[in-house]
Amino acid sequence: MIPAAPRPFCDDAKRGEGDHERIIMCGIVGYVGGQSALDVVVAGLKRLEYRGYDSAGVAVLADGGLASTKKAGKLVNLEKALVEQPLPAGTTGIGHTRWATHGGPTDANAHPHLDNAGRVAVVHNGIIENFAGLRAELAERGHDLASETDTEVVAHLLAEAYSSTGDPAEAMRQVCRQLEGAFTLVAVHADEPDVVVGARRNSPLVVGVGEGEAFLASDVAAFIAHTRSAIELGQDQVVELRRESVTVTDFDGQPAEVRKYHVDWDASAAEKGGYDYFMLKEIAEQPKAVADTLLGRIDGSGALHLDEVRIAPSVLREVDKVVVVACGTAYHAGMIAKYAIEHWTRLPCETELASEFRYRDPILDQRTLVIAISQSGETMDTLMALRHAREQGAKVLAICNTNGSTIPRESDAVLYTHAGPEVAVASTKAFLTQLVACYLVALYLGQTRGTKWGDEIRTVVRQLSEVPGQVERVLETMEPVRALARSLAHKNTVLFLGRHVGYPVALEGALKLKELAYMHAEGFAAGELKHGPIALIEDDLPVVVVVPSPRGRSVLHEKIVSNIQEIRARGARTIVIAEEGDEAVVPYADHLIWIPAAPTLLQPLVATVPLQVFACELATARGNEVDQPRNLAKSVTVE
Ligand code: G6P
Repeated sequence: MIPAAPRPFCDDAKRGEGDHERIIMCGIVGYVGGQSALDVVVAGLKRLEYRGYDSAGVAVLADGGLASTKKAGKLVNLEKALVEQPLPAGTTGIGHTRWATHGGPTDANAHPHLDNAGRVAVVHNGIIENFAGLRAELAERGHDLASETDTEVVAHLLAEAYSSTGDPAEAMRQVCRQLEGAFTLVAVHADEPDVVVGARRNSPLVVGVGEGEAFLASDVAAFIAHTRSAIELGQDQVVELRRESVTVTDFDGQPAEVRKYHVDWDASAAEKGGYDYFMLKEIAEQPKAVADTLLGRIDGSGALHLDEVRIAPSVLREVDKVVVVACGTAYHAGMIAKYAIEHWTRLPCETELASEFRYRDPILDQRTLVIAISQSGETMDTLMALRHAREQGAKVLAICNTNGSTIPRESDAVLYTHAGPEVAVASTKAFLTQLVACYLVALYLGQTRGTKWGDEIRTVVRQLSEVPGQVERVLETMEPVRALARSLAHKNTVLFLGRHVGYPVALEGALKLKELAYMHAEGFAAGELKHGPIALIEDDLPVVVVVPSPRGRSVLHEKIVSNIQEIRARGARTIVIAEEGDEAVVPYADHLIWIPAAPTLLQPLVATVPLQVFACELATARGNEVDQPRNLAKSVTVE
């Protein structure tokens, strides 16, 4: 039995409010070494705040005890609390930043959670499904649980297991074997001042290995300022960090194989670099992100080499259907992929919201290629969709920006986008690189299946290689777009219209505005206008229209020019995004945004950029938080 004892240094005597909190997203950091653990952990949490920003907390081992502070709200609240009531200095610590799913974002529900004696502190991502039974058992054994939270149960179990084993890693393994559900945990024990233990199931956990120090975090961004040497932990593994050693086992204590890797970007990539917001920096980085994603994938003759696509060409030749699954902005990239895949490969392609996919009993077999697109590689709906697809025998190719994350790990193959870390919650550079990856996959399928000739592929590849320069030019001409956005800050609604690949671009423009400006924004296929949306048009309503190239499918262009006239005749204020030199739109545009000429299928790469800038500026003008919009988180690891 653990005696109830005062909790040294802990500001959080009143924990839990009777609600079962479920922490699924969130960022976790652990540190052991020679530096101030608090400094390292808080700096790491800052880098992870994109994963959740409802509350945050830290615990450090010091003076033979354990000190902890946690606060509702953004990390800055925790930082203030730490200034007002400093914690004792220590060199081992853990921290957590939370996105609340169940259980309000209160001080009490923030992590870390401690056992009664205040000797164990634990932070957690996930849901412990059998926590109620475990809690009842703990109560029977005399534990006094202060809250209904599942995480607190782990703190008690760890304390109990440690008291019988005297070994923090073994205690963690024993506890993990009792837990059901999803749990990624990091813990410290006051009796083991130089040890941090972690366990991974589902949510990511990465080890950073430094000189005489080691780190644990949800994302390498948390420790990249200290080391670029990382170890990816697998499912159901326990890790023990000491200053000079990192030991990884499975839940039964068997040594586990781990993948070591070198992080190929540095701390400056995860900094704002002089920009007011990460989003502005990430918008500006798009030319490089696109170029990096193309790099090394095209040989001197213009042929594609996607080495990571480990699905045998013979299997790709047998594919008779492609299904793309994704969420949010990645879903819009997937919608555009459908046009390219069908046009270039003549394979039927469906694009589906990952959250809908497996619930409608989709028809899949070993001849289906499923493409799962995800910046984070952690989106739960996308993960569940790919698991369902693999169960049905389909091959899964991930398009992902996060090395070693769950979605690529569970896929048959992966094509990484090389956007670098994307921190702002609203996706920008990841979207453009997802598009590039989709085009590459579509061309590769065409190349492998013989539906595209070498010279056709070379032409598209050449056009793709021009995109970084074109995006650069778009970025140089954005001041009028920003001024327009500021002038519309008082509006309640903005509509977006597009046709063909311009339709998903319109949806993406509307999503950006909802996410960032909290405005009512809708994207429509322009052909659907007369089936309802036109009734929304009223005097001075801003409508953004994405116009396809007049040189490509001229019928598309003609039709959308008619649509612009129809809405303008009904009072809309038309904001027209059109190719440079497209004189046909000029008479009907209240505001014109020129973009460089690009082939129809590739136009989203340039047409989306002004919409990102527009949404970002509108958000700023309305006084909103650009990088961390309300209620959102970057990785939605809950269904
Ligand atoms: C969240 C983010 C979006 C993102 C979506 C899918 O909603 O706020 O920006 O597009 O998740 O994320 P993924 O990591 O799977 O691309």
